[in-house]
Amino acid sequence: MHEETLHFERADDVAQLVACGALRGNVAQFAQPRGPDLVKRTEPLDAWCALRAAHGVWQYARAVDGAPGPEARVREEGTASDAAGAMAGVNFASQDYLSLASHPAVREAARLALLEAGPHSAGSAVLQGNSSASLALEAALGALVRCEHVTLFPTGWGAAFGLITALVTPRDYVVVDQLAHASLRQGASAATRNVALHRHLDTGHVRELLAAIRSRDPDNGILVVTEGLFSMDSDVPDLPLMQHLCREYGATLLVDVAHDLGALGPGGSGSIGEQGMLGKVDIVMGAFSKTFASNGGFVACASRAVKRQLQLFAGPHLFSNALSPVQAATVLEALRIVGSGEGEALRAGLLRNAVALRAALAETGMRCLGLPSAIVPVWIGSEQVARLAGRTLARANVHVNAVEFPGVPLGAARLRLQVMAEHRVEQLRHGARQVGAAVNGAGAALGVEPAHGPWRGERSRG
Ligand SMILES: Cc1ncc(COP(=O)(O)O)c(C=O)c1O
Repeated sequence: MHEETLHFERADDVAQLVACGALRGNVAQFAQPRGPDLVKRTEPLDAWCALRAAHGVWQYARAVDGAPGPEARVREEGTASDAAGAMAGVNFASQDYLSLASHPAVREAARLALLEAGPHSAGSAVLQGNSSASLALEAALGALVRCEHVTLFPTGWGAAFGLITALVTPRDYVVVDQLAHASLRQGASAATRNVALHRHLDTGHVRELLAAIRSRDPDNGILVVTEGLFSMDSDVPDLPLMQHLCREYGATLLVDVAHDLGALGPGGSGSIGEQGMLGKVDIVMGAFSKTFASNGGFVACASRAVKRQLQLFAGPHLFSNALSPVQAATVLEALRIVGSGEGEALRAGLLRNAVALRAALAETGMRCLGLPSAIVPVWIGSEQVARLAGRTLARANVHVNAVEFPGVPLGAARLRLQVMAEHRVEQLRHGARQVGAAVNGAGAALGVEPAHGPWRGERSRG
């Protein structure tokens, strides 16, 4: 890595940024546009985004030229694909936790599948879209999570939404962690109006809600929804207790293992394996997009009948083209590596990197949320500070996601860094120093006190 310069914003640039209004407002203000013209009424949102983009604080819809590895060439939305537009730098904004997207065996599996079966599944899984690779993948996933009956989906989002809408009817209830992924919460809202958000990781609150529902309705179903590792907080629920509560109140537990399966736990079995719950959780679902080098998702359950229900009622499974043979073969090979000694070594490397990055960030005064994992969330709180810090980091060619509503609640902005097994120590240190400088600099420049919504003090949840 070349000589390091810490990047700061010039005071007059920040003053101009504040004056132009690009730090003000949030997406929530545009959530319910009004007026008879459905097209025209989207324009205020576009104008607000354009203002942000013009001032370098529009952090979305970037593109990577080449592979999304520990170093990547990243382009802002709307910039041309030439060398001048793309910024090569250390990359903490892509999801490839075990670095399997660049693994020669995974790439070779994808290449062979392309040669043998072509690029296309050419049908829904319910018609003729399955392939030998997708059938083998179902079996391998079932073995890893010890739930025999696996249903594949073209995306993780579809798995969450499809599962919940296929199982839950308007008379049923969903009790879901308030910080659960949008796919889970949107699935719940689409399935029933009886949705209760429980306080994050608060099993006492889950018990209270279950008891209240059961005392007035013994006849209908309750789905309790949580994640194996929370994607914006890097924290983990008490799965044995959650499952116990579900049994006690006749509810069904769903655990979304999108971020932990493969990357954590013995043999890559995720939080479920770490907590001794393999084969004991009612329903497990996940996404391949974080660790398994592909789009796609799955639902696994010990019940064959649930698989049938999904086959005929989960829209994103039934009415969408199946995973391509290339995607299925990619995930299958990634799964083989995850379960091997090499997978164990990659997980150990990933964890070492996560711990090193968190330690280096702490040295700069940053507060990381949750536990060491591939997700390293740097707490900020203020959207304004997060946007400005995000701009400074982009200009320093340090690629991180500045996350604000709707990814997280209002007032709970953060920088989310995602670590890969193949990040090098000097990249972690460089990234941490730049993040520290950018956040401290942005806070000082905007006069935002770190005492409330602190990046140094106790975390307050949004
Ligand atoms: C917890 C969780 N579930 C589901 C999904 C959806 O997965 P995908 O992006 O692969 O469709 C995500 C992705 O961001 C996620 O974080």
